[in-house]
Amino acid sequence: MKVGFVQMDCRFGEVEKNLEKAIGLISRKKADLWVLPELFNTGYQFVSKREVADLAEAIPGGPTTQRLLAVAKERRTSIVVGLVERSGKALYNASVLVGPRGLIGVYRKIHLFYEEKKWFTPGNLPFEVYPVGYKSEKGGTLRARIGMMICFDWIFPESMRTLALLGADIVCHPANLVLPYCPDAMVTRSLENHVFTITANRIGVESRGKESLRYIGRSEVVGPGGEILCRASDKKEETSVISIDPKLARNKRLNRFNDLLKDRRSLFYLGRG
Ligand code: ACM
Repeated sequence: MKVGFVQMDCRFGEVEKNLEKAIGLISRKKADLWVLPELFNTGYQFVSKREVADLAEAIPGGPTTQRLLAVAKERRTSIVVGLVERSGKALYNASVLVGPRGLIGVYRKIHLFYEEKKWFTPGNLPFEVYPVGYKSEKGGTLRARIGMMICFDWIFPESMRTLALLGADIVCHPANLVLPYCPDAMVTRSLENHVFTITANRIGVESRGKESLRYIGRSEVVGPGGEILCRASDKKEETSVISIDPKLARNKRLNRFNDLLKDRRSLFYLGRG
């Protein structure tokens, strides 16, 4: 399976421009699955709830999802992107997974970071895993199991653990990272759950309101053994596509005696709430 990320800068509020730039970047290479950054079409640094509402879109009826559905169909690919979702009165920091046959899934960011708490409603959907088809070398169709989480979800190990327990082979991770820790932390997240992870981050600086945010780039694909299969720079717009075998994420055995999921002693862990 060929999987890739788009690492890009985006101009705040210029939805069409950002969307077309992302599509241009995707169109340069062939992949079965692409991951793009969090809020890739709007930018991140909102200064009012009005702005968030003005840039929010319905899923799947809004223009961004509709355009991506067309691209996924035309290029026979699946795409994960982050965008602002409007659902009734609620505004979510969301991601969509679209494929050649239509909308596959929606995720609403559960762990909101910093001022996001002023703008967004916390995600109210459970983590989920979705099948995504790709062609095997022999020409048959295989299915990878895809989970989604968004940026700051990484700092809560429960996010990826839940996706691993649900059977994810690949966790797609649109991000707008500003703290420096995540790219290295994803090595541990991948290793402890034995899953592939694809983090697609932004680059560039946003200076709106009182603060300036610098996005750290370093998008990456990490393998189930914690190996960094590819990692981008911290400054350039880049795409990267590599071949992986999603099935390698399914055997959770570490050695003859240990299994990463079956050896959990949940009796001794704190429960809900
Ligand atoms: C983040 O969650 N965008 C840092």
